[in-house]
Amino acid sequence: MPIYYHQNNGVFHLQSKGMSYIFQIINGYPVHLYWGKKLKDTNHFEYLIQGMKNETIDRLPQEYPQYGSGDFRHPAYQVHLEDGSRITEMVYKEHRILKGKHGLTGLPATYVESENEAETLKIHLIDSYSGLSIALTYTLFENENVIARSVEFTHAGTSPLRILRALSSSVDFHDSDYQVIYLSGASRRERQLQRKKIGPGSFSMESRRGNASSHHLNPFLAVVHPDTTEVHGEAFGFSLVYSGSFKAEVEVDPFFSTRISMGINPFDFSWQLNPGERFQTPEVVMVYSSEGIGEMSRTYHRLYRTRLCRGVFRDKERPILVNNWEATYFDFDEEKIVAIAQTGKELGIELLVLDDGWFGNRNDDTTSLGDWNVHYKKLPNGLKHLASKVNQEGLQFGLWFEPEMISPDSDLYRKHPDWCIHVPHRRRTEFRNQLVLDYSREDVREYIFHAISNILSTVPISYVKWDMNRNLMEIGSATAQSSQQQEVAHRYILGLYDLLEKITTTFPNILFEGCAGGGGRFDPGILYYMPQIWTSDNTDAIERLKIQYGTSLVYPVSTMGSHVSAIPNHQVHRITPLLTRGNVTMSGNFGYELDITEMTIDEKKTVKEQISLYKEIRSVIQKGDLYRLKSPFEENEVAWMFVTPDQKEAIVFYFKVLAEANMLPKNRLKLLGLHPDYQYKLQGTNNSYNGDQLLYAGLPLPPLEGDFQSKIFRLRSLD
Ligand code: DGJ
Repeated sequence: MPIYYHQNNGVFHLQSKGMSYIFQIINGYPVHLYWGKKLKDTNHFEYLIQGMKNETIDRLPQEYPQYGSGDFRHPAYQVHLEDGSRITEMVYKEHRILKGKHGLTGLPATYVESENEAETLKIHLIDSYSGLSIALTYTLFENENVIARSVEFTHAGTSPLRILRALSSSVDFHDSDYQVIYLSGASRRERQLQRKKIGPGSFSMESRRGNASSHHLNPFLAVVHPDTTEVHGEAFGFSLVYSGSFKAEVEVDPFFSTRISMGINPFDFSWQLNPGERFQTPEVVMVYSSEGIGEMSRTYHRLYRTRLCRGVFRDKERPILVNNWEATYFDFDEEKIVAIAQTGKELGIELLVLDDGWFGNRNDDTTSLGDWNVHYKKLPNGLKHLASKVNQEGLQFGLWFEPEMISPDSDLYRKHPDWCIHVPHRRRTEFRNQLVLDYSREDVREYIFHAISNILSTVPISYVKWDMNRNLMEIGSATAQSSQQQEVAHRYILGLYDLLEKITTTFPNILFEGCAGGGGRFDPGILYYMPQIWTSDNTDAIERLKIQYGTSLVYPVSTMGSHVSAIPNHQVHRITPLLTRGNVTMSGNFGYELDITEMTIDEKKTVKEQISLYKEIRSVIQKGDLYRLKSPFEENEVAWMFVTPDQKEAIVFYFKVLAEANMLPKNRLKLLGLHPDYQYKLQGTNNSYNGDQLLYAGLPLPPLEGDFQSKIFRLRSLD
């Protein structure tokens, strides 16, 4: 049994295959004792806290710290009671250990397929004065070193209260010799890897954008020791399953212990809780690795690929697509799209995605969001006709929507000017000439559900790109009471999840890909509904090395949309070889986003080869284990590889960014993840190597001349 409870001293020991997480109830408070490599269970864990039992609460490592009774670090929660006070004292009441894992009402979360995969511990704490209680929930996955944490507030008192802060997890490490790893960026520069030392004081990362986890900071952080590398040392990961404003805080206190907390951003948030009501926080997925950052990532990949993503596409190979956005932007007609499909067929492409501009009166970004009916001036025969023609060419048909938005120049806005997020008597700030629909309102969501369903059920559509291109400003809802206006951003996210659940379950055979101006909402919350996300609007191969490498810290390659685009690249104007553009793109859900009808015969030949190669290797890429070998954040050479779980097959990707003068050729690349005793044949050659040679001495590399060069190696075991 992975969750042990020692009644004599109130110690809980959560033990998975390689990890232990231990805490103890002391004076009614859950006090943190240990998180790290697996320990045998014993009745003698108390010594881990000995000498501290009589310390003030400010020095005790805690599981869910409260505000106002002497702990001056960041609390995990705070409430405002009707008498004006902000003090509660939550003490242990009881606990339950349950088999399996239950879903979170209205929120995405990791799941199990059988009760034996996990055990869940619920610790109930109660504040007897207010009647408010908290259930701290810990799910331990038996075969992974993962704990999923969340918190549920239940109000059994008699007077309403307001929750001011309700984080999902808080962990107190006993020391502070750590570095923090996180992913920062901007639009077209998403998820750049950052690593820095922590010290006394606080470091926080957050989104205050309301409807997005953001391009700027991803809801993820890891703490590692200074000597932790890809393959060595401890790494502790925290990943929030939420798509709106979040906050992650690292606080080193005066006694050099470290508090890591994560959850919904308390900034501009409060939630009225009436007697009898509950409030559920999102889930934080905490991963432990004793084998470096690489193993932390692979744990997230396995869990998110198989126990967060859902639906028929979870385990299916993803189609190779062509998207018309960078090929035509808004300037297309039926003839052009059908021509792209015809060339697509010739090249082996499986799906055509019609992007922005097919609806209302949309010829640029100034109009029509919300009017989800076909643009007959552009597509006089309608969408069904176009989709059928694409199908006749042998390609599936996919369609772009931006369902959360409304253009002031739209019939929908003229009819329902109060349906957007806004504050009465204030300016409605536009961004990209658009406003945001008020998804906290059920009637608005209902309208959008019907508008989209109408198209999805009448046109043969196999794929939807769900885009979202601006954040919340002047946050307010026409239907919320004044006391609930600070709930609107979170209610928006709950409304989004509600609609996504409804749409994706009504159309289970449509593949949904999330998008937010590129990768502005690349988070686990979205992956629960849509198993892939457009990684970035930056399609330059060299920029993508960093973006995809950074994204892979948490997210499986099967979740990353990646497309070969034109040169000079539209975002950075770089000219890179088609081969390298293809090789970078293949480490993701592969596609093209350029005018393939304009390609030369030679280019078409290369593209055909790329497509047929990807068809052969995509199951290893989409379902194999990823090993990062060389980081674009550190070197001029970049490399990673995918290995099947049985270690029989591997695909190695090697990139050399810039040519260098007067250097010894880098002629060996040490691999990872292979079996040292297997013999591997290098496909396309007569050479074979022992696994130990490839792991410890390295794979021989051919010289690559010129900038932006790359090569793929395929290895297959002869055993
Ligand atoms: C932003 C997306 O990231 C792009 O791929 C494209 O779909 C445009 N929106 C269309 O407006």
